[in-house]
Amino acid sequence: MPILNQIKKHWDDLSVSKGSSYKTSWDDYYMVQKEIEEVCKHISTGIETICDFGCNNGYCDFEFLHRFPNITMTGIDYAEKAIIQANKTLSESAYKNRCEFVVGDILDIENYPKKKFDTVIVKRTLINLMDDNNQMKAIANLASLIDHGKIIVMEPIETNLYRLNQLRRAFALPDLSQPWHNKYLSDYVLEYIYANFNVKINYNYSSSYYIVSRVLYPWIATHLVNSTVDYLSEINRLAMMFPNVGDYGLQQVFVLTKKA
Ligand SMILES: C[S@@+](CC[C@H](N)C(=O)[O-])C[C@H]1O[C@@H](n2cnc3c(N)ncnc32)[C@H](O)[C@@H]1O
Repeated sequence: MPILNQIKKHWDDLSVSKGSSYKTSWDDYYMVQKEIEEVCKHISTGIETICDFGCNNGYCDFEFLHRFPNITMTGIDYAEKAIIQANKTLSESAYKNRCEFVVGDILDIENYPKKKFDTVIVKRTLINLMDDNNQMKAIANLASLIDHGKIIVMEPIETNLYRLNQLRRAFALPDLSQPWHNKYLSDYVLEYIYANFNVKINYNYSSSYYIVSRVLYPWIATHLVNSTVDYLSEINRLAMMFPNVGDYGLQQVFVLTKKA
């Protein structure tokens, strides 16, 4: 089976086994909460239309709807089973009039909604496209969903995996590698973003979390207490609260607007 089909099956299967949980997207609970906090900084309290491309089961979208009573959301994902789950949760929620979930492939612009949004979110979805050209095509496609609005790109970048591994080596920890279904954004893709968009904001919000959860905690677990790491540990909860220092976080946020 071609890799892109295997990846789609992976998400469909997870939607069935994990239901409405955050685990359909990532087991790293505290990092998912950090992502939500970061996205919320870029949502206004006024009326705002938002599209979340690669919405999965809508876990984050329900949180945005809860926090911002004036937004409306369109969640899109190519994993049909994730969209079935998202619609099931929606039908049991108080957000039926402010949200819709539909099936769509980020690479297939023909099936995009024929309307514009104030904000488009793409969060840990471009990395599933496995190729620089696909990632750049997807970003160009997403631009068709905004006029004067913004695109919030929240994705891991390759350079910081290298940087984080340098730090891990200093603590005698093995390198981390990208999951089989990910290709983090390369410098080439970042150059494309800067060449084609106004990058209003680019910052690394996850560095402290990664230093503690991917270096300090594994070092303590491996070298001091001979145990394994757990995403739900109190150390990770503490790491989520630290002010950001350094540039070791894989997850970055880029807020893009169209060039005039
Ligand atoms: C790691 S999950 C992230 C989900 C959600 N954005 C979040 O941050 O919690 C990646 C999601 O992207 C979706 N996805 C991957 N490739 C896609 C594509 N070509 N078109 C639409 N959705 C895609 C997957 O089905 C999956 O739901």
